[in-house]
Amino acid sequence: MTNPDLSGALTLASPEACLAHYRAWAESYDAGFASDMEYRLPAHVAAAFMAAGGGSPVLDIGAGTGLLAERLRDMGQDGPIDAVDFSAEMLERARAKGIYRRLTQADITRPIALPRQYGGLVSSGTFTAGHVGPDALPNLLALALPGARFALSVNLRVWQAMGFDRALANLQDAGHIAGMQVIEVQVYGPAAATIDPAHADDRAQIVLFRVA
Ligand SMILES: C[S@@+](CC[C@H](N)C(=O)[O-])C[C@H]1O[C@@H](n2cnc3c(N)ncnc32)[C@H](O)[C@@H]1O
Repeated sequence: MTNPDLSGALTLASPEACLAHYRAWAESYDAGFASDMEYRLPAHVAAAFMAAGGGSPVLDIGAGTGLLAERLRDMGQDGPIDAVDFSAEMLERARAKGIYRRLTQADITRPIALPRQYGGLVSSGTFTAGHVGPDALPNLLALALPGARFALSVNLRVWQAMGFDRALANLQDAGHIAGMQVIEVQVYGPAAATIDPAHADDRAQIVLFRVA
C-alpha cells in the first residue's frame, strides 16, 4: 500500500496546490498519516527545543493540526503557544485541541502581520519538498525577540537543494543568528517501511540557533 497523501505533498508545485492538498488532507492527517507512519518529527523538534533551554511565548510555524504543540506540552512547555499556518482546515483541527493561545492564518513566505513578540520559534515538517524554502526565514526572524531560540526541521532532501545550508550560514556570518547547531533525525518510525517505502527512511536536520 502506498500513501498518496504524503507522496502528493512532497511534489506540490505552487502555494495554491499546497492549500488544496491540505484542505483534503486535514481530516485524516493525525489518525491516518501521522499514526500509520509513526511520524516522529514533531517529538524530535520539541525534544531538541526543550533540551536547548526552550523559550516563551512560542510560535509554531506551519503548525498544521498541532502535533508539535502537543509534544511541547507533553515535555513541560507551559507558556503560551501560538500557531501560524496558511491552511484554514489544518488550523481548525489545531484549534479543536485547545492548546494554542492564538491561531493566525498566513503565508509565511510573505511578511507576517504579527508583532515581534516570540522567545521561541519552532517548526516541524514545513521546510520540505513542495513546501517552504529558506526565503521565509527573514519573515520569521522579524517576529523574534532578541535572544529568541529557534528549532526548525528541514528535510534532508531540500537542505542543500533549496539552499537552507547557505541561507543559514549567511544569516550567521551577517550576525543575525548565533550558536547554530544541527541534529539529524529520522522522520518516521519502523511502521513506515510497510506503508510508504519511498519515504520511510526520510531524515531531517533540526536546526537550533538563537537570534543575535
Ligand atoms: C507537513 S505539514 C506539518 C504540520 C505540523 N507542523 C506537523 O509536523 O504535523 C506542513 C504544514 O505547513 C503548512 N504550510 C505550507 N506552506 C505554507 C506557507 N507558505 N505558509 C504557511 N503555512 C504553510 C501546511 O498548510 C501544513 O499545515
